[in-house]
Amino acid sequence: MKRNELKIGLFGFGCVGYGLYEVLQRTQGLKAQIKTICVKNENKQRQLPDSHFVYDKDIILNDPEINVVVELIDDADAAFDIVSAALRNGKAVVSANKKMIAEHLSELIKLQQIYNVPLLYEAACCASLPIIRNLEEYYDNDLLESIEGIVNGSTNYILTKTIAENLSYEIALKQAQEKGFAESNPRLDVEGYDAKYKLLILIAHAYGIVVKPEDIFNLGIQNLGVLELKYAKEKGLKIKLVAHAYKNADGSVSGFVIPQFISNTHQLFHVDDVFNGIIAQSCFADKQFFVGKGAGAFPTASAVISDISALSYDYRYEYKKLNAVDRLRSDKAIYLKIFLRYDLAYSPEFTAYFEEINETYLNKDSGYIVGIISLSNLKTIHARKIAETSIVLVEVIQLETEQSLVTIEKEKRVLNGTLI
Ligand code: HSE
Repeated sequence: MKRNELKIGLFGFGCVGYGLYEVLQRTQGLKAQIKTICVKNENKQRQLPDSHFVYDKDIILNDPEINVVVELIDDADAAFDIVSAALRNGKAVVSANKKMIAEHLSELIKLQQIYNVPLLYEAACCASLPIIRNLEEYYDNDLLESIEGIVNGSTNYILTKTIAENLSYEIALKQAQEKGFAESNPRLDVEGYDAKYKLLILIAHAYGIVVKPEDIFNLGIQNLGVLELKYAKEKGLKIKLVAHAYKNADGSVSGFVIPQFISNTHQLFHVDDVFNGIIAQSCFADKQFFVGKGAGAFPTASAVISDISALSYDYRYEYKKLNAVDRLRSDKAIYLKIFLRYDLAYSPEFTAYFEEINETYLNKDSGYIVGIISLSNLKTIHARKIAETSIVLVEVIQLETEQSLVTIEKEKRVLNGTLI
């Protein structure tokens, strides 16, 4: 279906919705026009007169003239109802709702196939960075070794302001909210969920594997404390919230989100404030680095405009790599070198979880361990001691196969005398 004349039904007129309205006014070449705007709250003051708004979603969903639905609302469940109804009604959809897409990706792919309509969501990952279309179109699954990056603008803003400019965490978070970077529930940002949703979408387009949010481990920045900030400062490191996805030699994929020490030789070191950065590492091209504003009204609206424009030449995601590989690597076979800070009261419990301990430190209140641990043991510690610990990645330990780890674990148990 050619959509030369795009008639848009817009859901949501918050920070990004208004940004889109403004940007569309300035995008002369694009034959796209917002016909109807649907919002939830009838009493809210808005930048346009009330006559511009409707409050019943069916006015857009049942309007045969509207051929594109742009969904920019906050509530992921309501967004899924709107997006799935629009696809069923044969309307192309553009969405920026990473939570909704991550929670329903398999279903959304099926709906696109059944009703033969596109759903585009470049704005859902890293706002202004054109990363989804690049992963989808440019990188071959077999040759793409890893993607690694800062995919959440709010946490990067908070970390930049607290570490480099000594602002308190609370003030930096408040600023991120005032600037329209943070989610309306900022726990999604600071606890690493927003980054996890984005990583899930990136993994689908990078490797053709659609997983559930609970399959990807995420740690946030909310527990970072004085000891790890001091450790970073002494060693000339920064701390960034980093999303990792990489292909293992046996074809499995690993993915997780975790705060990480970044040295000044790392490309992410200079990605500060609200900027996002993604490094794609592929077999022959080596490293390619995408950087740009990762949150805010206009950077996000720019990606929405790009998707609207792509619809005018009939672009859609083909999900060509889908099912190219069939699984994530098991947590037991992912090994990370981490810095674990803990309250002193819990110290004796932790050493047994590590495969190897490289460094330890104690003061009167707390201590830290730097060492190698499996992701499954890390999850166990995190689940039990969320409030009393803080975890920062030092490096990812890549191993050839899951089998080699089984051997390592067995050898370790033999050494410990627990398996003869
Ligand atoms: N809250 C998100 C962020 C908005 O800070 O990155 C952009 O997706």
